[in-house]
Parts: sequence; structure tokens; C-alpha cells
Amino acid sequence: MIRETPRAGIPARQQRLKDIMADGHYTRPAADAIAELTARLRPVLQDRLSDQKALLAQHSHGEGLPDAGMPDLVVFPETNEEVAEIARACSAYQVPMVPFGAGSSLEGQVAALAGGVSIDLLRMDRVLSQSTLSMDCRVQAGVRRIALNRHLRDTGMFFPLDPGADASLGGMAATRCSGTNAVGYGTMRDMVLGLTVVTPDGRIIRTGSRAKKSSTGYDLTRLYIGSEGTLGIITELQLRLVGQPESIFTSTCQFPDLPSAIATASAALLLGLRMVRLELLDAVQMDACIRWSNLKDMAPQPTIFVEFHGTANFVREQADLFRELALEQGSTAWKDAETPEDRKTLWAARHECYQATMALAPGKKNMGTDACVPLEHLAECILDTQADVRASGLVAPIVGHVGDGNFHLGILFDPTDPVERAKAEALAERVSLRAIGFGGTCSGEHGVGLHKTRYMKVEHGEAVHVMHAIKSVLDPAGLMNPGKLLPDLMRGTPEG
Ligand code: LAC
Ligand code: ZN
Repeated sequence: MIRETPRAGIPARQQRLKDIMADGHYTRPAADAIAELTARLRPVLQDRLSDQKALLAQHSHGEGLPDAGMPDLVVFPETNEEVAEIARACSAYQVPMVPFGAGSSLEGQVAALAGGVSIDLLRMDRVLSQSTLSMDCRVQAGVRRIALNRHLRDTGMFFPLDPGADASLGGMAATRCSGTNAVGYGTMRDMVLGLTVVTPDGRIIRTGSRAKKSSTGYDLTRLYIGSEGTLGIITELQLRLVGQPESIFTSTCQFPDLPSAIATASAALLLGLRMVRLELLDAVQMDACIRWSNLKDMAPQPTIFVEFHGTANFVREQADLFRELALEQGSTAWKDAETPEDRKTLWAARHECYQATMALAPGKKNMGTDACVPLEHLAECILDTQADVRASGLVAPIVGHVGDGNFHLGILFDPTDPVERAKAEALAERVSLRAIGFGGTCSGEHGVGLHKTRYMKVEHGEAVHVMHAIKSVLDPAGLMNPGKLLPDLMRGTPEG
């Protein structure tokens, strides 16, 4: 339901916060607020402010489910000061702000549910500094991960985190994302040393430092990492980098069934093998990838993709040990990626699992889940999930970052068929609740966005109230990405 909001001012602000907390409706800004905001920002941003329909539509959604919320304006700041001025202006006119990067998030994070301004950070795309000795760099939030690694190519260093999409580093921090390298290098939680954040009232703050560790004060860096634009706007990141390995060894091994594949992964972890990537694709996912990415000499069977980094001897030894474990578990095929091109083909196929899944049923949508559980429960969680899939009659491949206990079920459904959508939702819900029940989480790396808010209380219990308390202090007017992350801020059905 769309309602006009009263104009700004302290009482209106308090009323607005109450609306958000209490009544479950989205409130869009009044037309005159948008007009005044535009008049104030135009001299600062000039043609980097737009209300062109196509741009608004492009900024109304990420990837993932087809839920959208149209912003009223899109702005393209280039400096921290411009972002601060945008935030001050939005606060003055009580207009919501939704930070936007590459638009590749999967849980509805960037939909402007209450309208307002989509703050597109992709023009903040400069690498500000880098140090080989300290192995770190400082980037603006709009730098994308592939561009960063291109920039670093001749330095001997790289930034390892690789969500499937060519995401922006700011977006990656905002969703606390990871990807296939996380088992070796950690997630954004581990790779970000500090941030520059613009607060909703337009202050520019720096969190963290360049030191590897620090014991001073609250860890604001980690507060903003994973906050999904609900507390402030991340504009710069101090990133840890890692050395480019002398050798990389990538192999695939195929298994007769899922339990033997999972047992191999668990044994390798227990033995302390140093996998940098450890991915598992079930038979349905392999079938999709073989077709989509034209993989040669692979069967549609459960498959592990594994990779080691280090010296030539080290990676060879590690791969040999891994192969022994796989054979013990009945692995039916082992294949090394012989050339860098072979390696690239394999990881491209892995990164395109999502598209490969969609191609299995053109016209259908992919309701992706993102369960992450303690490793002791991984096998049971995946097998129970597979049994659910069979019972549902839906097509839903499983692909997982199993080294982290993290897997996705990509549930295909027809968005125009309410019965099928309901079945898909029920299946996704079972996966989320099961993961939480095993002491895990309903999102290992995609974030909460709009779709996982309803599990926040189940997963976090009373701690959700502490999150609310933080939110109400840092964003008292409820202007930052309304409707996301916290359950009580979820207000009815999204409106376009
Ligand atoms: C993947 C994305 C969807 O793992 O997280 O393919
Ligand atoms: Zn993933």
C-alpha cells in the first residue's frame, strides 16, 4: 500500500519511524519532497542525477526473484563529500536512500521498497592506494572485483573473494559475501580492515585501521559489513590482499552418490588439507552445467571441484592426498585441469551454475537458498534437503561451498503459477529452518535482504532486539534501505 508521507521536521520524522516500526506499510516520499531534493542536489551532481524511467527500472531490483521497488531518483556520486551531501539532503527531506552497486544481489537488497534515492556507487571506481609490503589496498566502493584483480595483476597480489557475479567491493562488504575461495581465504568479514562510511545524516566516518589487528573500541567495521545499506553508505574499503600463488592445481572428481562426495570433503578437512576451493555439485546441477558450459568428459553425477594454491610440490602433494581420499570413498573419475584454460573453463562453469540452472527450464525463476551449517551436520542437511526436493516434485539442483558447510538449492518455479510458487516457498522455508535447527544460518553469503527477514527472529532470537536498538540509533528516521534485514521493518508486500 502506498501512502503519502507528511513533510519533514522532527515530529514527522518520529511519526515516520513509528510507521515503519508499527504498521506494516511502505511510505513513499511526497512529490514535493522529491522536487525540493532534486533542486538541492542538481547543482552538486548536475547530470549525475536522473529520474529517467529506464534508469529507475534498472535500479529497482537486483538479480534473484522478480521483486522490485522503483526509486524516485538515481544519483551517481563520485566522492565521499558528494555522498555526504546526498545523505544530508535526503535526511532534510525525509527521503529514503538505497545504496546500489553492481545490482547483482540475490535477496532483493537493492529494491527501493519505499521509493527514494538509489545511490549508484559505480562511479566511485578508483583504487586509492596499495602496498605490497603490507599487502593491502584502499578502494572506492564502486570498484568491481574483476577490475581490482586486473589492476593488481603486476603486483604479485590479488583479492580472492569471488561471488559469481562481477560484484562491487562495496556491495560485497554490505552483504558480507564470500564465494568459492572462502574456504581458503575467508569471507568479507576477514578481508576488510576498515571502511569509510557516510552516515544517514551526512557524517563521513572511518572505521578500523590498516593494522592487521587492533583492540580499540567497538568493531564498527564488522557492524557495517553485512548491514546491507540499512545503517549507512559504505564508500571506501581498506582490503587485505594475498600473494598470487606460484602454482595452482585444480581437479574434479566424480562420485556415485552424494554421501561419498560429502564424506571425501569432510575427510580432507579433517586431515588438514589446505583446499582453497572445495565445491560440490549434485547430479542435477552437473547435468545443467554440462549442457550450459559444454563441459567435456563429465558425467551428470555428484562432483567435487577442488583447488590448491602454493608451491608446485605442495599443490601436487595435496592433490594426491585428496585423490586418495576420493578413491577410498568410491570416486569414479578424477580429472586434473591441465592448462590455465581448462581451469578457467571449470570455474566459469561453476560461476555460471545459477544461469545453467535457469536454462534447465526457460521462463521459470530460480528461488535460491543459502543454507550454512556446522560441518558435522552438512551431510544430513544436504540429504534431507534432497529428499524434500524429491517429495516436492520440483526441479532444484544443489551446489555448495561445502568446505564452509554452505550450499544452495536453486528451486525452479513458474512465477505465474501460484501453486508452484507456494511449493517452492515451502521447500525454501524447510531448507532455511533446517539449517537454523542444525545450529547454522539461513544465509551463508547472500544476505537477508527482503526475503530472509522472516527468519531473523528464529535465527537470532532476542539478539534481534539489539539489532533494532542499533538501527534506531544509527538511522533514527528509518531512511536507510527501508524494509530490509530486520523483521519488524518488513512492511507488507513490495510495491513497484
Ligand atoms: C553461487 C552463488 C549463487 O554459489 O552464490 O553460485
Ligand atoms: Zn554461493
